Formats: sequence, structure tokens, C-alpha cells
Amino acid sequence: LPTVLDPFCGGGSIPLEAQRLGLPARGSDLNPVALLITKGVVEIVPRFANAVPVHPEARQTLAHSGNWSRGKGLAEDVRRYGADILQAARERIGHLYPKGPDGETILTWLWARTVKCPNPACGAEMPLVRSFSLATKAGRQTWVEPEVTGNQCTFAIKTGKGKPRAGTVNRRGATCVCCNTPVAFNYIRTEGKAGRLGVTLLAMVAAGRGKTYLPPDTSHVAIAVSASPSWTPETQMPEKALGFRVQGYGMTHHADLFTLRQLAAMETLSDLAKDVRARVLSDAKATGMADDDLRLEEGGTGATAYADAVSTFLSMGVNRCSGFNSSLCRWGADNEKIMNVFGRQTLSMVWDFGEANILEETVGSWPTCKDYVAECIQVATGYGSTPGQVEQLDAAHAIRKEKNLLVSTDPPYYDNIGYADLSDFFYIWLRRTLGGIYPQLFSTLLVPKAAELVADPSRFDGDKDKAKEHFEDGFKQTFTLLKEKLDLRFPMTVYYAFKQDDEGEPDDEEESGGVSLTTGWETLLESLISTGFQITATWPVRASQQWRMRSRGSNALASYIILACRPRPESAAMTTRRDFLTQLKTELPTAIRHLQHASVQAVDLAQAAIGPGMAVYSRYSRVVEASGERMGVRTALAHINQI
Ligand SMILES: C[S@@+](CC[C@H](N)C(=O)[O-])C[C@H]1O[C@@H](n2cnc3c(N)ncnc32)[C@H](O)[C@@H]1O
Repeated sequence: LPTVLDPFCGGGSIPLEAQRLGLPARGSDLNPVALLITKGVVEIVPRFANAVPVHPEARQTLAHSGNWSRGKGLAEDVRRYGADILQAARERIGHLYPKGPDGETILTWLWARTVKCPNPACGAEMPLVRSFSLATKAGRQTWVEPEVTGNQCTFAIKTGKGKPRAGTVNRRGATCVCCNTPVAFNYIRTEGKAGRLGVTLLAMVAAGRGKTYLPPDTSHVAIAVSASPSWTPETQMPEKALGFRVQGYGMTHHADLFTLRQLAAMETLSDLAKDVRARVLSDAKATGMADDDLRLEEGGTGATAYADAVSTFLSMGVNRCSGFNSSLCRWGADNEKIMNVFGRQTLSMVWDFGEANILEETVGSWPTCKDYVAECIQVATGYGSTPGQVEQLDAAHAIRKEKNLLVSTDPPYYDNIGYADLSDFFYIWLRRTLGGIYPQLFSTLLVPKAAELVADPSRFDGDKDKAKEHFEDGFKQTFTLLKEKLDLRFPMTVYYAFKQDDEGEPDDEEESGGVSLTTGWETLLESLISTGFQITATWPVRASQQWRMRSRGSNALASYIILACRPRPESAAMTTRRDFLTQLKTELPTAIRHLQHASVQAVDLAQAAIGPGMAVYSRYSRVVEASGERMGVRTALAHINQI
């Protein structure tokens, strides 16, 4: 069986699937956040497959009757120690999450940012609200109604007939709810940079049969702002980076992405996930689990390493919480839930946001997140798989000892996602919690950036050409190194992800920017072909998760195109433009008919047809124009599109 390698493994879907097929799996990536997830699923879970849980309650009630095959024992410990963490967190920070006026459990507080109205005759603390809707499903319609007296605004909850008034912020700017003065974003930015944006409580979401909505309660505001975390992530965000759209409003440090209460909660959970390791270790020893005194990173398989493993997964749970506990999390009125901060791979301004009760059963809370991680452990466990191997490596310079590899990879796509910058959001918490267990992986203050293959001009003083060069050179070096390592029985498969912004709505008032679809294609194809690969097929694939906010339910393009590539024989001949065009005309119509018969959908056909077209182009060492110059990929793509 071939060993599968993904040199851009990210969170590990390719190595994980390889492992589930029973193939030895290797993965590498530069990014510690992504790498830790891959390590978790392909290294750590299989290492403790079939382990019996060590938590005393689990042992009393379940140990002898339970089925601990694959990752179930480890998952059970994550649940149980996670429940202990919940209890401890309630003792430490429970007072920050007050009940409603009639003893209701509040699941979410809905806030809006505020700015002082620039109209001197008004001066209201004007709420900045994109939408006043709380629930939009038929029969549940609920919204916030602003009620204005002079320059004061209070909020009531309305249901039933009628509809919410328009929000006070749209793409053009804001409007004062008290005096109707239009307010430009520039003013809000200036106020934000001066630290003068505030917040006001719009509504509270209470648990009950379904959810109920309560008007704001001033005592709740006082409690929320009384939180005083003793540690906050004081690391600086980049001044400019792909997908970062909040610095202009004065959010310049990672700590600015969270409310005080969210910071206090994250700090508490991070402390508890770190400290629980000692208890897991002593419980594991008490159960008689063998111990080799080796840490997880030293290859340990006993109690010491197991304690590291449980703490690792609990920290991942804490990290999942952070994704739902930022002041950039919208409230989804369609499903009445808090949305993850990374609904799109950006950090964009959110004017009205939801703040979850981290201690109750609700989206983004600790109980939900630790159970989610436990569930993932169970689902991710391979079938009889041996642990894979995961390393932090720069794909463009990786020296690998292994040969005869089946390479399958989903590489970074030009300027689509600024993974390294964005993942600092998670890194800051992981480093705090797990820096002791993975000293090497978390040795840097933030995620390493310089070697990342991304065409981000802000890394090159705004120089787009240099950014392009960095990306192209890195790709070429990567594929040159990989070519020497391939198992020639199999094609190398490369995933090409469509740029999210091709369909996404631009952010509130800012253009999403970016390059055309062709630039990404061109760069990938040019790198592959110039390093001696030929493309033998392409296939459109729909992603299982509809992660694009806008594409849900729409007739969107396939999320990926998979390219099958093989090294081009050294003896490959060159051809002329005329012969190339003749062959395209002969071969493409049949190839397209095949694609149609293979149920490639009409919207995907143009993209899929690039495969057979490129197969013609890349089988030659070069295609020469009448002028004697080499025909580039861009020109070839244009010809393919015309047929
Ligand atoms: C499209 S993502 C891979 C996603 C992955 N398939 C998954 O399941 O999460 C591309 C990955 O390439 C990584 N990357 C970018 N430059 C790299 C480099 N020079 N060396 C190694 N990995 C790099 C990024 O950190 C990112 O995780």
C-alpha cells in the first residue's frame, strides 16, 4: 500500500481520509493551529485507541461494561473531565452570568456597539445595529423596537404582526436613531481609534420552551462590565492583512476581539484545561495504566502521554469556544443561534453581536464545545488504523526521507485565505494552554508567517508583484521537491478551491477585493506544468459542508476542482499553436460529452473542461506561438474557454 502525503495538510482531512482507507498517512503544514488538529486526529487518537477511560466516575459506572473500542474511552474522559471543568468554572465565574428577572437562565446577551451622535444638538449614544430582527422563522417573528425619548433610546421586544424597522447601519454608513442624522464610517472609525465606541444591551435570550426574548436589564450590563480578566492576549494584530477589516475601528490587539466577560471566561477555561492534566495523570496512574514517563511529544504511550492527550483535546474545546465567544459573532435570526466568528474566513466588523452564556447548554458554550470535541474524537478514529505522522514543515523546503509517496493535497490558493494571520485568533489561546505540552510547536509568540505561501501584498509593503513572485516560487519549489518523491503508480491529486469571494457579498461597506478566478488557476497550472507535470484529468467536487455563507441553497459552483497530475516524460515533444488548436478542437467536444454523461452539472462544466484542455496543452514540453515564443497558460486557458 502506498503511503499518502499531504504537504499542506491544514486540519488534516486528507491524511484522515487516507487513514480511514487503511493507508499509512503523513501530513505536514507550517501552521501550528492546523497541525495540532491533524496531530489530534491522525496521531493522538489512534495512539490511545481502545483505552479504557481513567476518570473515576467513568470507571465506576462504565469501565467494565463499556465499549471502549477506537477512541470511545478517550472521548469519555474528555466529556468527564470537561464536566469537572464546568463545575470549577461555575464556581469561579458563575457570578458573571446572572439569571433573568424571573429566574430564567439567560443563554445569550445581544449587544450593539454605540457611538456618540456627531450632531451637537443630539449627542445621543447612538446604537449601531445592522438588523433589529431576533427571530425570523414563520410563527416566531420577534424583533427589538427602539423607543426614543429626546436623545435617549431604550429597547422593547415585539412579536407577532408588524416588522422591525430598518437597521441603523448599512453599507453607506449609519443613522442616528434619535435625530436621523446620517453618520459616515469615517467618523465611526475616528471615534473607534480614540477608544470611544461603547456598547448597549439590546435584548436577552432566555432558555425555555423554544427561546424567549427579554428586554435589556441594567443590572446585567453592570455585571457584564465588572468582569476583570487577569490575563489578556496583548499581541498585536497585523496593520493590514488578508481578511482583516477591523483595525480601522481601533481594534488593533487580539484582546480587542473579545468582551471583558469573554476574556475572563476564556482565561478561566484555559487555566482549567491546563491544570486538569495533573489530575488525569494521577487518576491514570491510580487505575494502573502503564507509564513510560514519556510525554506525548516524546512518543509516550503511557499515563504521562495520556494526560497530555486529554489536556490537548480539552484545550481544543476551549478554542472552539473562542470561535463563538468574540464580539465579532453575529446573532443568526434565521436559526436563533450565535454564529461562529469565522462564518467567512475574515475578521470583519460586527455592529450587533451575541454574547453566549459560556456555562449553559447553548451554541458556543463550554458544555457544548467539550462534547463536540469528544464527538469528533469518536467520529475521527480510523478503522484499525495505525497512527499517522505529522510534522511542522515548510512545503517549499521540506527535506523528506521517505520516497514512493502518493501525494494528494489541497494547497493554499493564491490570496484566498490568510490562514496564518487569521489563525492567530486561536493560537493565542492554544499557546497559553498548551505551550508546556508542545514547547516546539508554540515557540513563537504568534503563528509563523514569512514562509507561508499566500499572495498577500501587505507582507511585501503592498507590492503585488513581489507577493505573486513569493507564491509562485514557493509553489514551484514545492512541486519540484514532490516530483522526486512520487510513487509513479499513482497520479498526484491537487485540489483547487474556489475563491470564496467569487460569490460572497462584500463586507458592509468595504470591497472584498481580490484577484480574478484566472489568476489562481493560472498560477497553479503554470507551477505544475513548468515543474514537469502534465494534467491528465480534472473533476469538480462539491464540498460536504456548505461553508460559504452565501452559497447555501444557491446554484453555486462546485467548491473544488481536483487535478490529476503525472510527471511529463522527459521525451515529450513540443508543438505549434496551430497543432495545439487543432487537437483541442478534435478532443474537447468528446471530453465534454463524457463529462456531461458523468453527471457533471451544467454550472461546473466550463471549469471541468479545463482538465481535458490542459491535458492537451501539458502533454507537450512547450507549445510555441508563431513568433517562436512559448504559449503561456493564460493564453491556453483562453483558447480552451473559446471551444
Ligand atoms: C487549503 S489549506 C489546507 C486545508 C486542509 N485540506 C484541511 O483539511 O484543513 C492550505 C494549507 O497550506 C498551509 N501552508 C501555506 N504555506 C505553507 C508552506 N509554505 N508550507 C506548508 N504549509 C503551508 C496553510 O497553513 C494551510 O493550512
